[in-house]
Amino acid sequence: MKKAITTGIAVALSPIAVWAADVAPGQIVYEDGTVEQSLTGAPGDPENGAIIMKTKSSGNCISCHEVTALKDAQWHGNIGPVLDGAGDRWSEAQLRAIVTNAKEVFPESMMPSYYRVDGFTRPGNAYTGKAPDGPIEPLLTAQQVEDVVAFLSTQKDE
Ligand code: HEC
Repeated sequence: MKKAITTGIAVALSPIAVWAADVAPGQIVYEDGTVEQSLTGAPGDPENGAIIMKTKSSGNCISCHEVTALKDAQWHGNIGPVLDGAGDRWSEAQLRAIVTNAKEVFPESMMPSYYRVDGFTRPGNAYTGKAPDGPIEPLLTAQQVEDVVAFLSTQKDE
């Protein structure tokens, strides 16, 4: 009986170890326009990725990209390419590089770097010209990046 309880606790605690292992923005390894290692060590959730991509206060990818599968949201922009078929054009590792830091793949891109906290100018503290208080947070969390990558990977032309 006692043994069974101990095993139960070990299983319940293991997801915490996975969260603690998130790859921080400065630790990402870019190699030839790819990021092989999952930022969370777990598969992303494509449905949540779709929500992130069409939510204005979140990824808001559709402000620049048209995506047929996200047409329930209005006002898709056309600054970037249509993302239909992105899962055919790019591997998961390439998509992870594009979403974390688009400039690794498209050097002059105006696409925001969604998982990066240094190497570029960020607005100061409420236009005071001073550095912001506290650490700068990336635009998306590691989990949100993986969710978006998972959604993009489902975008295959039939
Ligand atoms: C400010 C506009 C803008 C936003 C916002 C934006 N992108 Fe982009 N994206 C671009 C542009 C422009 C390109 C084309 C590459 C370049 O810059 O030359 C691109 C390229 C891409 C590509 C490769 C295109 C292809 O051939 O399939 C993917 C994938 C992509 N973006 C995903 C995303 C995702 C996911 C988000 C949201 C998390 C996002 N983008 C947000 C502008 C944007």
